[in-house]
Amino acid sequence: MRTEQPKTIYLKDYEQPDYWISETHLTFDLHDDHALVHSRLSVQLNADKHGQALPALVLDGQNLELLSVALDDQTLESSDYQVDAHSLRLQPASASFDLAVTTRIKPRENTALEGLYQSGAMFCTQCEAEGFRKITYYLDRPDVMSRFTTTVIAERGDYPVLLSNGNPVASGEHEGGRHWVTWEDPFPKPAYLFALVAGDLCLIQDSFTTMSGREIDLRIYVEPENREQCAHAMDSLKRSMRWDEEVYGREYDLDIFMIVAVNDFNMGAMENKGLNIFNSSCVLAHADTATDLAFQRVEAVVAHEYFHNWSGNRVTCRDWFQLSLKEGFTVLRDSQFSADMNSETVNRIEGVTFLRANQFAEDAGPMAHPVRPDSFIEISNFYTLTVYEKGAEVVRMLHTLLGAEGFRKGTDLYFDRHDGQAVTCDDFVKALEDANGADFTQFKRWYSQAGTPRLAVEGTYDASARTFSLLFRQSCPPTPGQSEKKPQVIPVRMALLDAQGQEMPLQLSDESRAEGTERVLAVTEAEQIFTFTGVAEEPLPSLLRGFSAPVKMTYPYSRDDRVFLAKHDPDGFNRWEASQALAVEILQGLVGIHRAGRPLMLDQRLLDVYRTLLADSTLDPAMVAEMLRLPSEAYLVELADVADIDAIHYVRDWVRQELAVALEAEMWPLYQALNDQVPYSPSAAAVARRSLKNTLLGYLMLCPSGKALDICVRQFVEANNMTDRQAALVALVNSSHEEQKRAALSDFAERWQSFPLVMDQWFSIQAAASQPGALQRVQELMQHPAFSMRNPNKIRSLIGAFANQNLVNFHLADGSGYRFLADRILQLDPLNPQIAARLLTPLTRWRKYDEARQALMKAELSRIIAAENLSPDVYEVVSKSLV
Ligand code: PHE
Ligand code: ZN
Repeated sequence: MRTEQPKTIYLKDYEQPDYWISETHLTFDLHDDHALVHSRLSVQLNADKHGQALPALVLDGQNLELLSVALDDQTLESSDYQVDAHSLRLQPASASFDLAVTTRIKPRENTALEGLYQSGAMFCTQCEAEGFRKITYYLDRPDVMSRFTTTVIAERGDYPVLLSNGNPVASGEHEGGRHWVTWEDPFPKPAYLFALVAGDLCLIQDSFTTMSGREIDLRIYVEPENREQCAHAMDSLKRSMRWDEEVYGREYDLDIFMIVAVNDFNMGAMENKGLNIFNSSCVLAHADTATDLAFQRVEAVVAHEYFHNWSGNRVTCRDWFQLSLKEGFTVLRDSQFSADMNSETVNRIEGVTFLRANQFAEDAGPMAHPVRPDSFIEISNFYTLTVYEKGAEVVRMLHTLLGAEGFRKGTDLYFDRHDGQAVTCDDFVKALEDANGADFTQFKRWYSQAGTPRLAVEGTYDASARTFSLLFRQSCPPTPGQSEKKPQVIPVRMALLDAQGQEMPLQLSDESRAEGTERVLAVTEAEQIFTFTGVAEEPLPSLLRGFSAPVKMTYPYSRDDRVFLAKHDPDGFNRWEASQALAVEILQGLVGIHRAGRPLMLDQRLLDVYRTLLADSTLDPAMVAEMLRLPSEAYLVELADVADIDAIHYVRDWVRQELAVALEAEMWPLYQALNDQVPYSPSAAAVARRSLKNTLLGYLMLCPSGKALDICVRQFVEANNMTDRQAALVALVNSSHEEQKRAALSDFAERWQSFPLVMDQWFSIQAAASQPGALQRVQELMQHPAFSMRNPNKIRSLIGAFANQNLVNFHLADGSGYRFLADRILQLDPLNPQIAARLLTPLTRWRKYDEARQALMKAELSRIIAAENLSPDVYEVVSKSLV
């Protein structure tokens, strides 16, 4: 039990700071077992708030050893200030003064990976959200923006590379082999964007000429053994820079842009001004070691962090409740970029699949919160799918409602109006409104209401009046702290299809003539009817195209309607959606039949859709692969009121096998044709072909004919890229061919043992394999020399993959999976609370399961909350989950 309850912080309590810090001068003296941090701050009273009165200056600080404090060069006695575990407090004598503070910190002992820490042999920092206070005493809040100058001093031999934000302005040598570099960042920024790196790194260099003709020095720093794995990140960076100029009119502002890859990192990457620090998994990519998926992730994360330079850095957040201001917008920007670089439809399908399986589950669970939360205990817990992914959906809806041009006018005004400021989500929406003369008052409920809205739609055709009416009913289930919800603005992109699948001309009853064949209807009421006139035949509506709003929509389609849409909807996204919905319906029906102990039979309509797909050589292979993929177990769990995970798993596997057997004859030639042994290429077309080929291999390996085994082994051995090799390994590991499986796994481990990111894949594949005994395998793998409880990537790839992707084994009825996870969380909490809190997610989903499992899951949560010295991170998630 905690003796002191952690404090809840409320948005409604926001106040401006008492003081500003115009200049921040930092000197880091780095040593093997400690670092000395000298800071000199120019502080000014916030006169708008206080007039002439001088309140105490209260600086944030944590885990710091305070060595000295001086006010305007007068060293203070320890009786002149107060220090506690969170702050340094002193009384200024004037409205403007210099404060010099020296602290000692222990980066090597910093296992939480927040503040200044060591990753392998290098020093690096992570300051978002509140990590800077672990480096020195400061006003560690995003509305305090300051100009930083940073000098880094270290041993030249071990740390030849010394980096910080901005431009390098001076450097030199000290006696005894130490050297120093001074960096100056001309742009005022909050402390969370501060960064420092020191290490023995190699440099990959390139350049970019901006739209105004300035030449930017581009640098990626990695450990020497990773030198060959940076080309894709560099290429992605240059394409991001060009894209942001073309699509958003945003030009880069410093003379140098740096990316550093580190192995120990809690998140994906961090947008520190001019010095992005990345989890190596989001930088390194080589065809031999990284899958196509990993390549796409590198491209997206490099773009995301680069785009933050404007959406996040030049214009930042006033307070952490506004986190989605930068994250929602920037996720939208990176997904627009990825859509432009790859297939737009496939990109959207992947995004929606992810949102539905994960963010919808968050919205339905105990941690549900609005895109702009009202309160939190630990801000680290609010780097969520809701803030990021749903936040991006909210901005995407604004884009849909305004159109591309209106949206751009709005973002231009936003960047223009707020450059150099720390602002709110309201300011963002206001800029879009002002630039377009729009009113988004009601729309802003998307920022304040949690939960996934339901949209029930019905259609009525009146043959004599030739009208077709769509009736929309919206509602939103209660979420913690929000029992009642008001109607939201739901943009529904739609068309009406005739019997040939052609889009019909659209004319609403209040319009004088038909215009266009696709519309965005803005549903704003709890119940609302839209009537189309001049509708010559009974149409089939194609609704919510491109997933134009993050809602759960229902329409009483028959299975035949879904087959028709899956084959004929001119909108690619909705073709996929129809095939998914058909598969969901069939799987849900079979789960019921299986639970009733009756024999399973596959609805031939699913086969019919799949057969048509396989026969159509005009389709994008990546799209076919997406359509052949059955809805995930996680999504089926999310859709269920009470999920029977054993039945879901059994039925889904059974359907996969039925499909494989029935379509084996069609799949073989297609697999062979795609397996053409051409030299590896990273092009979108080649990626699409690999995606379909490996989807087919997965099915073929399920056929009792056993014909695929040799081919799979051959693909594993002979593959000239990691995508194909890994797909073969996954198929083998999930098969019952024990001998081939064991051989492949040990061959793989031997070959890639010195590549941590490849070993991460090796761990995940085994942790996610659904055969019995998974927990024991995971426990054994924890003993493997490549595993470490100190490395977040390892924890995610082994423990995270087991708990999140291996649902049948994690939810074993004896509760062993739950106990294992709770033990790991308790073990990890003192080391790295952020990662410990993230690991809790699967236990927070207890409401989805039967009573016996609920009791077991809650028992583990109760055991965790009873532990001594729990971090606020874990405490917050567990206590909210038990309410
Ligand atoms: N701001 C980072 C991003 O979205 C994520 C991050 C948050 C990284 C907190 C580290 C710590 O790009
Ligand atoms: Zn971000």
